[in-house]
Amino acid sequence: MMTRKRLISAVIGATLTFGATASAYAATTFKLSHNHPRDHAVHEAMTFMAKEVREMTDGEVRIRIYPDAQLGSQRESMELMQNGALHMVKTNAAELEAFSPEYAAFNMPYLFRDQAHYYSITDGEVGRDILNSSEKSGFIGVTYYDAGARSFYTNKPINTPEDLKGMKIRVQPSPSAIAMVEALGGSATPLAYGELYTALQQGVVDAAENNIPSFGLSRHSEVSKYFSLDEHTMVPDVLVISTEAYEGLSEEHQKALMEAATKSSEYMKGLWAKSEAKERAKAEKMGVKFVSINKQAFVDAVQPMYADLGKTNPELSELVGRIQAL
Ligand code: GCU
Repeated sequence: MMTRKRLISAVIGATLTFGATASAYAATTFKLSHNHPRDHAVHEAMTFMAKEVREMTDGEVRIRIYPDAQLGSQRESMELMQNGALHMVKTNAAELEAFSPEYAAFNMPYLFRDQAHYYSITDGEVGRDILNSSEKSGFIGVTYYDAGARSFYTNKPINTPEDLKGMKIRVQPSPSAIAMVEALGGSATPLAYGELYTALQQGVVDAAENNIPSFGLSRHSEVSKYFSLDEHTMVPDVLVISTEAYEGLSEEHQKALMEAATKSSEYMKGLWAKSEAKERAKAEKMGVKFVSINKQAFVDAVQPMYADLGKTNPELSELVGRIQAL
């Protein structure tokens, strides 16, 4: 089997030699990296998108998907894309905060009233503005993929923020996620997703937080037996493309790509609901307890984050205000 390092060099080597538009049929083939396994709903949704775009462009635009962080963590993939070695990355709004501050809005806890409110943002004008906000960093957002709500998991029930006191909690590399865990009384440890299973197993961290499908498919359910449904954030997955790759397409192909992506994002909503139910049932069979809790103490504890935003970051505070007003 090819090692990850060799695979990355082979992929990058091929890119540098042939560029993005390299087949005998003059088709454009984009390489897309993400960090979930093939049986994750987002892989299925993007496979659907790749098929759609290929059909819509008579085979002239193709997308080759590299799952499982084969080409590196989300962070590494973003850097490869900025260097021109990769064309597309499926990452998420927490990871993107470091590249484009507008994404921080999605990382504010208890921002969305419910799923309908969340979809009105990801499918609407505010969501599109955020997707376009990264142009100066050399990429743009193509679409969002539903990633449900994130909750804490560890080896004891978390009923109130007090239960998090003194715990080392893994977060994504997002300043807002760090601020949230600190506001709740825990100690935040940013780590790449791929390192988390071992970190939980060896006690490098005590707890983590994620949505149910990722919790199950990453097998964190083997090493954390309580999933407490505090549902603090709704952080969408985001598909991004380098501006260089996007601008290399004809207008017609750009339109086809965007249409295929939007369709796949709709398709994902159904896949997501099924995946949540399936992964929850699987985890329960393995002895995981899903704990329903009263969220009010969590909501109260994070309110200072909103007050601070008003003082320290008026632009972001305005964006958050736009989301709340919808
Ligand atoms: C979710 C998300 C990933 C992310 C992961 C994480 O699973 O889909 O994009 O890497 O959370 O917590 O790191």
